[in-house]
Amino acid sequence: MTAEVIYGSELAQSMRDNMKEEVQQLKTEGIVPGLTVILIGEDPASKSYVLGKQRASEYVGVDSDLITLPESTTETELLTLIHELNNKESVHGILVQLPLPKHINEQKVIETISPEKDVDGFHPVNIGRMMTGKDTFFPCTPFGIIQMLKSKDIKIEGKHAVIIGRSNIVGKPVGQLLLNENATVTYCHSRTKDMDQFISQADILIVAVGIEHFIKGDNIKDGAIVIDVGVNRTKEGTLTGDVEFDSAKEKASFITPVPKGVGPMTITMLLHNTIKSAKIHHGVYNR
Ligand code: GUN
Repeated sequence: MTAEVIYGSELAQSMRDNMKEEVQQLKTEGIVPGLTVILIGEDPASKSYVLGKQRASEYVGVDSDLITLPESTTETELLTLIHELNNKESVHGILVQLPLPKHINEQKVIETISPEKDVDGFHPVNIGRMMTGKDTFFPCTPFGIIQMLKSKDIKIEGKHAVIIGRSNIVGKPVGQLLLNENATVTYCHSRTKDMDQFISQADILIVAVGIEHFIKGDNIKDGAIVIDVGVNRTKEGTLTGDVEFDSAKEKASFITPVPKGVGPMTITMLLHNTIKSAKIHHGVYNR
């Protein structure tokens, strides 16, 4: 079997075009979705993600503000800034780019952002809402993955979804969203014994470990749906995923590439959440 490739880049573009129209309409009603991104320090990967967020916001018409702060910023300074943004009317979404310098407590920062402006979906209130099957801001990468599956009319219900990786940003929440869609979910991680046994059973395999070509075609079930969340830099300086694409493509029914796969969807769902937050704020969500 040769898999159909799911290009997140194409889905992201069509969703952004729709959002652009929606934002134009909202602006005629005096509603301007506003996002503030905070970047601390000089991490090159974080800088590049943040640049992507700025460009996409501009395209869609979201009013995006980037605050860059030095590595030496204290936790108190950051928390004070978040309190200010929580109280600022024009800001509907606050995103603090992770990871943070070691002297800042990440969880404290996440819990200081108002759940109503937590467009990352990382606040315990929003995680709790997601876990109980309520509408909320869903974490962007997992939410993007669900959109990619749905865009291809892939039935999730009853499928065995195996998640490799248990981060708070991707692994744990994507398992929860798949469970909400009635999948049977297995989490694998660095302490899992005989991981191959689980991988070979996966109807839907989500790989988010950050190890170049951790999964190969030999490992996966015929017809599996393979979602590669990894972004790894090769020795040659190009980007590659956690899945060996060429061999996996010959076994899978659907597969996502790296780049042009999950990555563009993450930013798209951030914009979606920001627009949703603005609509909730102005009482026009679900009209
Ligand atoms: N760092 C890597 N991914 C993310 C994300 O989705 N949100 C934030 N805030 N930081 C990240």
